[in-house]
Amino acid sequence: MSEIHTGNVIKEELKLFNNYIHTKKKLPDNSKINRDNNYLAQILKISKPYLLKELSETGYKELLSNINGLSKETNTSIVIQKFSEIYCELIKKKYRSEYKNTNKTLNDFINKQDSGIKIIWGDCFKVLKGMESESIQLMVTSPPYYNAREYSQWNNLDEYLQDMRMIIKESYRVLDNHRVWIWNVGDIFDNDNLAVKSVWGKRRLPLGAYFIKIFEEEGFTFVDDFIWDKGEVQSERHKNGNNPYPFYQYPANCYEHLLVFHKHRLDKTKYPCPVCGCLKVNGNSQPEIGIQSWECKNYDCFERSEGNRGKRFSYKTNITQSHHLKEHEIPKDFISKWRKDIVKFSPVIKINSKGVNTLGHTAPFPPDIPEFAIRMFTYEDEKVLDPFGGSFTSGIVAKKLNRIGICIELNEKLFRKASIENIIKNLNITNISELNYE
Ligand SMILES: C[S@@+](CC[C@H](N)C(=O)[O-])C[C@H]1O[C@@H](n2cnc3c(N)ncnc32)[C@H](O)[C@@H]1O
Ligand SMILES: [Zn+2]
Repeated sequence: MSEIHTGNVIKEELKLFNNYIHTKKKLPDNSKINRDNNYLAQILKISKPYLLKELSETGYKELLSNINGLSKETNTSIVIQKFSEIYCELIKKKYRSEYKNTNKTLNDFINKQDSGIKIIWGDCFKVLKGMESESIQLMVTSPPYYNAREYSQWNNLDEYLQDMRMIIKESYRVLDNHRVWIWNVGDIFDNDNLAVKSVWGKRRLPLGAYFIKIFEEEGFTFVDDFIWDKGEVQSERHKNGNNPYPFYQYPANCYEHLLVFHKHRLDKTKYPCPVCGCLKVNGNSQPEIGIQSWECKNYDCFERSEGNRGKRFSYKTNITQSHHLKEHEIPKDFISKWRKDIVKFSPVIKINSKGVNTLGHTAPFPPDIPEFAIRMFTYEDEKVLDPFGGSFTSGIVAKKLNRIGICIELNEKLFRKASIENIIKNLNITNISELNYE
């Protein structure tokens, strides 16, 4: 068992080690750190049995070839970071290969370098079926609200919820692990066409509540329900009687839900310790449903507790903590806008003073919604998907925030012209990538 290391000793050792690497200064004789400046070789030596187990012989060989360029790198932190990235990519590749129904044209389109705003014309259920597993870092949408619009109609509420369930189920596979789904939906006033089919059978349908249950049943964790206060709303989402007696009064509905769900697929793959990069780690516990936490068992790790316990981490903390950098900071005023779970901002005004819809889409959501989702739950260059794209508000906001915006929309005939104009007006670009997916 090696000696106990306190935080200061580690920092001191690291400083010496980096000094040694850069200047070849002599390390004190009692230093624990290996004098071989090829730190990559050390990681491999300690991790080999675990690498072989996780990647198999072929994957291990592929890893060796992919890290070849790193063997000359003398900065230990870079070696640890790059080694970990390359290893994680191979693990992801292995996981993705388990799903056999991907469509090459579709995934090439999604992965190709272009303007960063991509439109896929088609049914999102079919598109999701063709996408690679865990290939999207955030999903944000506002689905059709049951029979609220002329372009999306169902026979009854159950058929609608069943269609949505299939899409949610498939999105669980496509969303990256430990990532987020933001689902904007309003509770509507309509007939469920189940028990009562007469014109009088309209009632308040709590779509938000139904969706929470469906998401949970499909594996997601329900995290938050932001109430979007829309102010005074002129719509038929209430049943206010003119009669001033008990049992006739109902409130005008002026809010919608922004439901926040996490995906935590329990993944027992070993991941490298973020401090020393080694795979000699043991399963520690599951601090949340679906999150596996690890403890570093490399006794020469640069960080050990006073009780000589190894660094504890999870794949999720590896992602989040490696992004604690100035460039990923969320603006303070933005954090303050979203500090409480009731948030007020205006809905999109579509109809001008002459009663004409100026936007070409009957149900766009305000950019505040995708902006919230994207700023709070992604980093630059990541992929954001809106499966019910509409006028592509999510894609536009994603692009503005330097993410890759991907939108799927079924009704090309109805919305293409206005939506493309919307993108051009907002982003001032014309090279929009489009794909028809039948
Ligand atoms: C509530 S709107 C989304 C509006 C969008 N958030 C915006 O800002 O414009 C829902 C959209 O989903 C589309 N849609 C309905 N079913 C679909 C499906 N199966 N696949 C893809 N899009 C679909 C509708 O045509 C409609 O444009
Ligand atoms: Zn370690």
